[in-house]
Formats: sequence, structure tokens, C-alpha cells
Amino acid sequence: MKKKSNLKLIYKNSENCQIFFNKNIFLKKNITQILKPITKKNPVFVFVDKNLHQKMNLKLYCKKLEKELGAEVFSIKGGEQVKSLSYFKKYIDRIFSSGVTANSFIIAIGGGTIIDLAGYISSVIYRGINFISIPTTLLASADAAISCKNALNLRGGKNQIGSYALPKYVFIETTYIYNFLPSRYFWDGYAEIIKHGIGHSKKLLDHLKLNKSKYLKKKVIKNLNEIEDNEFKEDITKVLKLAIKSKVDLFNEKNNELQPVYHFGHTIGHAIEIATKHKCLHGEAITIGMLIALEISIKKNKLNKGILILSRKLFKKYNLPITLDKKIFNKKIFLKAMHKDKKYFNKKNYFILMNRLFKISNKLISIDENYYLNLLKKYIV
Ligand SMILES: NC(=O)c1ccc[n+]([C@@H]2O[C@H](COP(=O)([O-])OP(=O)(O)OC[C@H]3O[C@@H](n4cnc5c(N)ncnc54)[C@H](O)[C@@H]3O)[C@@H](O)[C@H]2O)c1
Repeated sequence: MKKKSNLKLIYKNSENCQIFFNKNIFLKKNITQILKPITKKNPVFVFVDKNLHQKMNLKLYCKKLEKELGAEVFSIKGGEQVKSLSYFKKYIDRIFSSGVTANSFIIAIGGGTIIDLAGYISSVIYRGINFISIPTTLLASADAAISCKNALNLRGGKNQIGSYALPKYVFIETTYIYNFLPSRYFWDGYAEIIKHGIGHSKKLLDHLKLNKSKYLKKKVIKNLNEIEDNEFKEDITKVLKLAIKSKVDLFNEKNNELQPVYHFGHTIGHAIEIATKHKCLHGEAITIGMLIALEISIKKNKLNKGILILSRKLFKKYNLPITLDKKIFNKKIFLKAMHKDKKYFNKKNYFILMNRLFKISNKLISIDENYYLNLLKKYIV
């Protein structure tokens, strides 16, 4: 019998999420064959990133979904702007006027932003309808699609409204995704992967450290020859499997969505995203957030300095910038965003810190504004 390529994620012992790799779901003939037995005759709503729609010629593919699944397809340009109340209202209205039922399915095909919007909508309709996630960026495949969290942004903040809910299925297609994703977005996905490596997974960290694939030396992933291309796809599948497995283990072990590792580097990171009007991408912002959290951990938790050196090396190896262009950074907006952080209490920001390699503490530590601002200064050039 053919081995099933899936990893399970279990939520509160009652819900299951199955993660499949490389089922060639983007092949026109496969899409309905795979999805029809899942969605059956229930109403289906598809959120697809318009950028992909054009690049990957998904038009035909969506037509097939409309025809054979009776799906209603919403083609939306992906990006942070979609994680908003106005998009939420627009699409929830359309879904209700089309006749949604408690057995309906929402399918998201896109990066983390489309997945966050569609996931959030699916989690609040009748307190949760079926959700299927088909991530198309490295970041979404490694993290957003399998995190069990969804969120929208309010003005001047990040992820203030959200819910915890698991997708029923996740389909990860490495081949198709990376033929189209711009290189900067590709490397951006490595930030969360490195976080999981240093945060809790020795296997993943060892792979990231020892990986000698040739594509790592190319800042722009283009014109790979056949050998490089095969090596690239093989490696990405391996990295993703290791990253997701580490997350599945963590998730199932504690059966708790409030894992501190998720938040590591995100306090500063989210505020940087906002202070740069998202010119600094999510992964790039949390890279600097993690470096600062590591520096604070050395001071407050006596963390071994070697971990900061190792992390810096990894960020460089995976082509993540470790400085921020001062031209795109606004300090006033940064501080405002810090004050809207989820861990801001009694006029103080609280941070998630590291105790030692593979051990991120769940104790919140308050850090003075001047202290983190001074550290941040070094990273703005
Ligand atoms: N829910 C979670 O747990 C979680 C975890 C991590 C990040 N996030 C969120 O995810 C978002 C970032 O995700 P992202 O980096 O995927 O961003 P994104 O959705 O904005 O996608 C990045 C860009 O690439 C385009 N794109 C997507 N797939 C493509 C492809 N295959 N080929 C070419 N272009 C493609 C998009 O249109 C967009 O312009 C942030 O909002 C972040 O907060 C959520």
C-alpha cells in the first residue's frame, strides 16, 4: 500500500488536522478529485490570492472548482491589507448572502495573509465551519497554515482580533509554490523556521546548521540548473517536514495553543512591521525581534552568548537581513505599536525570553522602554 504523506495535528483531543505534502493539488485534474470527497455536496467558498491567480494561471483551476464543487471563488490581492475588518465584513456578507451552512467549507489558497483572513472568517461563522488551507509561501507553509491561530489587524496594531481554530486539511505543494515566489519572500519564510530550530527542535537546528545546498549561496533563486533545481525542491520539502513535525510534536505534547515559542521575537517584530508600514516583511521583522530578545535573554536570563552568535550566523546563511533601513523606520509609530502589544500591561512591555537553547521560558519579563530602544538602535542603519 502507498504510504500516506501526512502529519497529524490534534487539538483538544477532539479535532484533527491532516497535513499532506506534494499531492499535486495544483494540477487541474487533481484539484476536484482530491477535494470533492472531502467537501461532498456542501457549499464551498474559496479565497485565492489574485497575484497567484495571474502568475500560476489558476483561472482554469478556479473554473473547475466552480463547476465541479459549486464553489464561490473570491479572488483577492494578498498582502497585510486583507487582514482588516473591512475585508472581513465584505466577505462574510457575501458568504451569508450565498447561503452558508454549518457544514460549509472555506478553502484558502495563498500566503499567510489570505490564510489569516479566510481562517478567521471560517472560525467565527456558526462558531466554526470547515477550513482547508493551501499555503503558497514558505512562511505560510511552515507556520501560518498550521498554527491553529488566525488574526486580523486593527488600525495601528497587529493581530489584535483573532481566534484559535484548526484547519481540517493542509495541502503543501513545494514544487509549484517556489517556482513563482519572489526570492525575498522565500527567504523571509526561514525566520520562523530558524525560530523553531533554536526554540525547541534539535533535529531541525542540526539540519539548518549543516545544510550545504547550493541554492543557499544564491540570494536570488533564479535560473537553477536541473541538479540545483532538484536539490532545491528536495531540501525545501525536507526543511518543511522537519519544521512542521517539530511544531506538531510541540503542539500535541502540551495540547496548548499558548506556547511561548510562538511569541519569541514577535513583540519587537510586530511593532517593526507596523513602524515600517510593512516594508519590512514579517520574517525580516521577527529576525530583528529575535536578535533583541536574545540580547535581553543574555542579560536577564544568563543565556549563553553563543546562541546569539549562532542565530546571527543562521539568519545570514538563510539570506535574512539583520539590519533595518532607517529610511523606512518611524520611531513614533514603533512606540505606539509597542503600546498596543498583547503583552503590554501597566505601561510596561513584557517579553518572552530564552533560558537556554531549545528552552523558551513561559515567564513574562517586563523590560524598560529605554532599554529595548537602545538595543534596537544598533540594528537601524
Ligand atoms: N496565523 C499564524 O499563526 C501566522 C504565523 C506566521 C505569520 N502569520 C502572518 O502571515 C502573514 C505573512 O505571510 P506571507 O509572508 O505568506 O505573506 P503574504 O500572504 O502577504 O504573501 C506574500 C506576497 O507573496 C504573494 N504570493 C503568495 N504566494 C505566492 C507565490 N506562490 N508566488 C508568487 N507570489 C506569491 C502574495 O500575493 C504577497 O504579495 C503576516 O500577516 C503574518 O502575521 C500568521
